[in-house]
Amino acid sequence: MTGAPRWDPGCYGAFARERAQPFFDLLAFVHARPGMRACDLGCGSGALTGALHDALSAEETVGVDRDEAMLARAEPRGGVRFEREDIASFIARPDAQGAFDLVFSNAALHWLSDHEDLMKRLVGCLAPGGQLAFQVPANHDHPAHVAADEVAREDRFRGALSGYERGVPVLDVGRYAEVLYRAGLRPPVAQARVYLHELESRDDVVTWLRGSLLTAYEARMSTADFEAYVSRFSARLREVLSDDAPFLYTYKRILVYGRDVLAPPA
Ligand SMILES: C[S@@+](CC[C@H](N)C(=O)[O-])C[C@H]1O[C@@H](n2cnc3c(N)ncnc32)[C@H](O)[C@@H]1O
Repeated sequence: MTGAPRWDPGCYGAFARERAQPFFDLLAFVHARPGMRACDLGCGSGALTGALHDALSAEETVGVDRDEAMLARAEPRGGVRFEREDIASFIARPDAQGAFDLVFSNAALHWLSDHEDLMKRLVGCLAPGGQLAFQVPANHDHPAHVAADEVAREDRFRGALSGYERGVPVLDVGRYAEVLYRAGLRPPVAQARVYLHELESRDDVVTWLRGSLLTAYEARMSTADFEAYVSRFSARLREVLSDDAPFLYTYKRILVYGRDVLAPPA
């Protein structure tokens, strides 16, 4: 009940097409070079890891994730393999230092804290001339996300969560550009983009968030408490979201990209 969130590949995959869109926008920044060695941090079920590998004609791509259920869906093949490990420990491994031509991550790094330091550690995994590309959600001020945290702070759920509060480690978009620049990466791309998802109704936002944000609460509550939380959250959403059909779910994301120019490729 406590510890890392459990991911439900079925629930997460309910909006696979919508969730994949920023992945392809991020991938568009990356320059393919011959014989690339890439890592995909927080690779989930690995479908996009394979797409990344193929798009770059990479030599070797490793997908890293700590969630057993997500990785159970991953399909290793020639040049693509998967490792079950926490991102923080993977990027601290001696064999990860200076090892990758591309450090990539789509919609995962917001589960790790202290992004300023995290970025330095990610840059440390780049081979000379390597590229860093990641995308993180930045939707913490959306009414649905605000409501999720407000409901969690209500007495009944605060107790069930033993005081846990979900933090938001995502930096201001401009700060990502500064940190990249100081780390020697050029151009320091840091772009905020709004993705507009057309959902049948506002109730679909619950399904969407059950597959992502709410896993942080699910991991810390009993099943009964979590179902009560979801029911209360659903009711709250009907108060704060419009009932237009389709419901337009605006989703802000930050895309970050840079290439190590202080040490160009040999
Ligand atoms: C929103 S999913 C994204 C999956 C995939 N990158 C995609 O775009 O479809 C986030 C994934 O990050 C993984 N994750 C979150 N924090 C992690 C950590 N500290 N170490 C390893 N994996 C982590 C989760 O298990 C989950 O599979």
